[in-house]
Formats: sequence, C-alpha cells, structure tokens
Amino acid sequence: MESFFNKYLNTVKHTETILYTGHVTAVKGLVIESNGPRSVIGEICTIKIPSRNKEVLAEVMGFEGNTVKLMPYSDTTGIEIGCEIIASGHILQVPVGKNLLGRVLDATGTPIDGKGSLDVTEYYPVLASPPDPITRLPINKRISTGVRCIDSLLTCGKGQRLGIFAGSGVGKSTLLSMIARNTNADINVIGLIGERNREVNDFIERDLGPEGMKRSVIVVATSDTPSICRLRAAYVTTAIAEYFRDQGKDVMLMMDNMTRFAHAQREIGLSTGEAPAQRGYPPSVFDLIPKLLERTGTNDKGSITAFYNVLVDGDDMDEPITDKVRGTLDGHIVLSRSLAQQRHYPAIDVLKSISRLARRVSGRETLKAVNKISRLVAIYEDNRDMISAGVYQKGANAEIDLSIDKHEAIEEFLCQEEDEHCSIDDTLQKLSALAEIEIPDEEYVEQPALGRKTVAQLVHEHKEENVTDANAKASGAFESNLPEQISAISDVADKL
Ligand SMILES: Nc1ncnc2c1ncn2[C@@H]1O[C@H](COP(=O)(O)OP(=O)(O)OP(=O)(O)O)[C@@H](O)[C@H]1O
Ligand SMILES: [Mg+2]
Repeated sequence: MESFFNKYLNTVKHTETILYTGHVTAVKGLVIESNGPRSVIGEICTIKIPSRNKEVLAEVMGFEGNTVKLMPYSDTTGIEIGCEIIASGHILQVPVGKNLLGRVLDATGTPIDGKGSLDVTEYYPVLASPPDPITRLPINKRISTGVRCIDSLLTCGKGQRLGIFAGSGVGKSTLLSMIARNTNADINVIGLIGERNREVNDFIERDLGPEGMKRSVIVVATSDTPSICRLRAAYVTTAIAEYFRDQGKDVMLMMDNMTRFAHAQREIGLSTGEAPAQRGYPPSVFDLIPKLLERTGTNDKGSITAFYNVLVDGDDMDEPITDKVRGTLDGHIVLSRSLAQQRHYPAIDVLKSISRLARRVSGRETLKAVNKISRLVAIYEDNRDMISAGVYQKGANAEIDLSIDKHEAIEEFLCQEEDEHCSIDDTLQKLSALAEIEIPDEEYVEQPALGRKTVAQLVHEHKEENVTDANAKASGAFESNLPEQISAISDVADKL
C-alpha cells in the first residue's frame, strides 16, 4: 500500500508550486536583460510576447546584480520592455529513445522534419559531465569507416575521437558523409552546426539517403540561427549519442563543424561581458571545448566514436581553435588543399595525419605494411622536386627507387570515389598486396591486437627476466668460487 502511494508522494514532493517570473528590462545585442525570474545558469525560461501572441524559449547565461541575462533560441521580433519571463525550473533536456532514429531535430530537441512529434518518455540533460575515466571501457576494437585511407593508414578504434582539419571547400563534409554511409557503427548521431541551409537537405537526401537515415539522428542549427542554438546543438548531439551509448551501442558521432561551435561561444561570451583573448576568442571557448569533447569516447556500457570537423581559419594549423581541438582529441586527419586541387579525393595528407590509437587496434603485420607504405610516401615527398625535375638518377638509392615504382599504385590506393564503399577486408587485402607483406587471417578480425602484451606487461616481464638473470649469475658466481672459498676457510682453520 505504501509503495502505491510513494509514486504520488514523490510527484508532489518534486512539483514546483511557485512560479518564478520576471520582466524584460533591456535588449542589448544578442542578450535580453530582465528583472528576475529567480533562476540558475543554464535554466530554460519562456518569454511571452503578447503583441505577436507567441512564446520564445531563452536560456539564462549570466547575472549582474539583480539582472538576469538571457539568450533567446529563436527570433524575438515584437519583444518589448515588461514582457513576462517564466522560469521552467530545469536546464535544457533532450527527448531520447529508439524513435529518434531517422529523425531531424533542432537545437532544443524539437523535430523539424514534419514527421510529427516524438513518442518518447525519457529525457537526457544536455549539460552533462564526461564519464568517469576509471570506468571507461578500453579501446581495443577496430571501427570500419569504409574509407580506405583511414581504415589502413589511420586505423581508428571504437570509442576513439578524431578531428578532420581543413580550410574551406577542401572536402571535410564530403568525407564525413562517406563515413556516415559506410561505417559499421550501430547508430550515427550527426550535428550540423552553422552549416548553410542548402547543405542540410543535401546531406539528408543526397549523402545519407533513406537507408543511411534509418540508423541516423540529425541535429541541425544552421548559420542563420541564434548563437545559443549553434552552441546547444553540439550539446544536444552529444546527449543523444550518450543515450545510445548507455544502451550499450557503438555510436558514431559526427560534428560539422567545431569552428562554428567556437564562433557561437565567442559571440555569446563577448555579448555577456567576457574579455576577448586569443584572436578575439574569450577564455570560455577554450574551457568549453575539452568539456564537450571529453563526453564522447567509451563509458562502462558502450562507445561513441567521434569525428569532429574543424574549419581551419586561413589554412593556419596553429590557430587557437585548431590547436585546442587537436590537443584534446585522439587523432587528427588533415586535408590538404593542394591534394584537392589535384583532384586527389579524399584529400587526406597522410604524413600530417595521425591516429593515436592505431597501434592498439591493428595486427602486427598490418602495422608493418602501414609503416612501409607511410615511409614510401614520405620518401617520395622528400624527393618529389628532384624526381619531377628529372635530376634523380634511378639506381642511386634503392628506397627512392621503390617509392617511385610504387607511387602510382599508392595514389590509386589512397584515392576513393565518393560513392565507393571499401570494406575492411578489401582494404587490408589491398594494403597487403601494395606493401608486399602478407597479413594473416587473424588480423582481419575486429580485435587484432587483443592478445598483444601491454607496454607495462612487457616492462614487468623484462624486469623479472633481468632479476632472474642476475640471481642466476650471482648463484653461478658463488658456486664457481665455492672450492676456493672452502680452501681459504680451511687455511684459516689450520692456522687457528
Ligand atoms: N571525395 C570527393 N570526390 C569528389 N569531389 C569531392 C570529394 N570531396 C570533396 N569534393 C569536392 O570539393 C567540394 C567541397 O567539398 P566539401 O563541401 O565537402 O568541403 P568542406 O571542406 O566541407 O567545405 P566548407 O568548409 O565550405 O564546409 C565539393 O563540392 C566537391 O566538388
Ligand atoms: Mg562543409
């Protein structure tokens, strides 16, 4: 009987019976200032605009004395001094459930695809902490992206986080759409942040298609939406991926792009009174980036493999956002404008790109083949000018000769049509043939490095071996000296 009443008692206990309200006192650029309501940072409020008979959602971004600073999620035309603001009592939450698959949402988690409301009962907070580092599952399974260059020379693990870095128009979005179509992850969660309006439909209809959409959720905040939408869309995307990870799924999260996220926070920071620091970005930008990116990866149930596109301002790889994102992630894929100009797509500069976990998810022979091909690419690039000017004489250096002989085949291997899918088996077979190194069957599995010892184990074994050797030597030395020692002792005994 008691348990029957408990749920009602609980509901009553958690029901907010006081409505906290306030009134608009000023609108300064992107920020709405108000007298009240009583609220916390991140709380969602409703602004009533009676002249237009509409309500606008806004988020509390800061306080100054008794003034609350809010940022609206949509157009505030018609807003005036005195408009009522009602606090909701909660921060932004996103509806979650299996029904999200195939749907397109906006930055507040509301469907915008005209397919009706979402039939879900569960909600996830968009502002969450990263999983506990100690309970995270280890990354030891290879994920297939279907892109030959990545699956071979830049192998990624399930739960790894990588950035795709390039200037504008070099092929970031195209590469991301190839991964979305071809990956063997269970679910795609894709955040389109600050993209052009046209690109959204192109991505859904042309790039993903109905088959891809079936296992994808898309969150959209285009370039014309308020900065708070572009910022929160990244969080909503992450929260949805976290929900599926908690269901034990292997999720592929894709964000296009992180630079627009940083721009949104720059606009918000500056308009709420923060001082500009590096290249006009306020310090909060550099604080938010790792907090958001650390939420992906593995937890104790599943994994979120993440690809974050970064638009590199002026192709300068040292600009602050590029530097911050690159330093936070587990790898970077750099696209080169000169490769794109040569129509070498995907324009991945393999020498400047790195997957920090490739060794953990690749077999021994595969790694040998990868090293050989990477080395040949590096040698060819080092000598490109000499080779193309005809200065290099064949026969002068065996490795340069090999890099010239293999150059065309390597180019062919690294290039891939947008609509071409390459399975992991195909990739490894082609890699093996190219490097002329046999990759055994056991390296084609999802965890090819499973039995391999860790560095700590190897060091421990090495130490133990050294101790045993030293003991053996010491006891050997003692035994070999034994007759001399006995005669010395008997000499002393005789003298006594
Ligand atoms: N794999 C590919 N095959 C053929 N063409 C490609 C490929 N990748 C990119 N392109 C060409 O490059 C153009 C720009 O690509 P994309 O839109 O992906 O670049 P982006 O880096 O996302 O650009 P932005 O910074 O403007 O978002 C495409 O319109 C297409 O013509
Ligand atoms: Mg793009």
